[in-house]
Amino acid sequence: MNQAFKSDVLFGLNSSPKSLPCKWLYDSRGSALFEAICDTPEYYVTRTELSLLRSVVDKVASLVGPNIDVLEPGAGAGIKIQLLLDALQSPRTVVPIEISPTALEQTARTLKKKYPELNIEPVVADFTSEFELPAHFGRDVEKKMIFFPGSTISNFGPEERRQLLSNWHDLLQPGDFLFIGADLIKDRRVLERAYNDKSGITAQFNLNLLERIARELQTNLDPSTFRHRAFFNEAQKRIEMHLESRQDQSLEIEGQDFSFSEGESIHTENSYKFSVTGFQETTVAAGFCPVETFVDENQLFSLHLMTVQD
Ligand code: AVI
Repeated sequence: MNQAFKSDVLFGLNSSPKSLPCKWLYDSRGSALFEAICDTPEYYVTRTELSLLRSVVDKVASLVGPNIDVLEPGAGAGIKIQLLLDALQSPRTVVPIEISPTALEQTARTLKKKYPELNIEPVVADFTSEFELPAHFGRDVEKKMIFFPGSTISNFGPEERRQLLSNWHDLLQPGDFLFIGADLIKDRRVLERAYNDKSGITAQFNLNLLERIARELQTNLDPSTFRHRAFFNEAQKRIEMHLESRQDQSLEIEGQDFSFSEGESIHTENSYKFSVTGFQETTVAAGFCPVETFVDENQLFSLHLMTVQD
């Protein structure tokens, strides 16, 4: 059994209000459901970022120059990095970091096949914790870049976000780059639709967390007694995802009792939305300096090329 999962579940359900860390949404079924979310008509994020990325990679390549090493935390299937690698001039080493060894192996295999001249150095790690970089990384090259697309930064609260950006700043030297995607604040109806798709895939993705608890822990939990709820919290500028109890109930998980009243929820994810300047300020506070910011024509999504200040 995954002890970290068990202790996070017990801790989160003993907290008030009840919550669970969103990283546990991504078991193999959760990861597959997330991929399916990206294909729903309502979830504009992935489609918009991919097309923006396609239109700006040549510009980015000319701004960062040749002979660069790239680190991608949370690389997933590695689709976006391929767009970048196709444009960069003679990149050298690529370090995809991924918590799931099977997903990482597959990504590394795909990259090695497509770019035989590149040095691919996969690292299995939770990128929010400390990890060791391959000795090669950043040696004998002009520059390094951390590539963090997908607006994954949205799923970190202000303090964790500050910490993550400052950890990355410490991995880089003056003149190195951070290339990062950030989803933008927009009409709440567009936002809420994206997290409440008609086909119910986001609901399955959220409810899978309860199914995972029922699969992996000793419990009488019946996931069908909860419903998915996602809404835009205007004050905090974030989409909140919750699992709401349909009834008063008592649950037993790993020998501990938890009571729920009807309508009480477990907070499972935050997805922060940014203004372009607000996001720039966050990165500047961590020691980065904006080089170029790209926004799609509908102002849905932003990509930020930043450098480390001298
Ligand atoms: C991975 N992350 C950027 C997604 C988001 O939009 O916050 C996760 C997600 N949750 C529900 N739909 C997508």
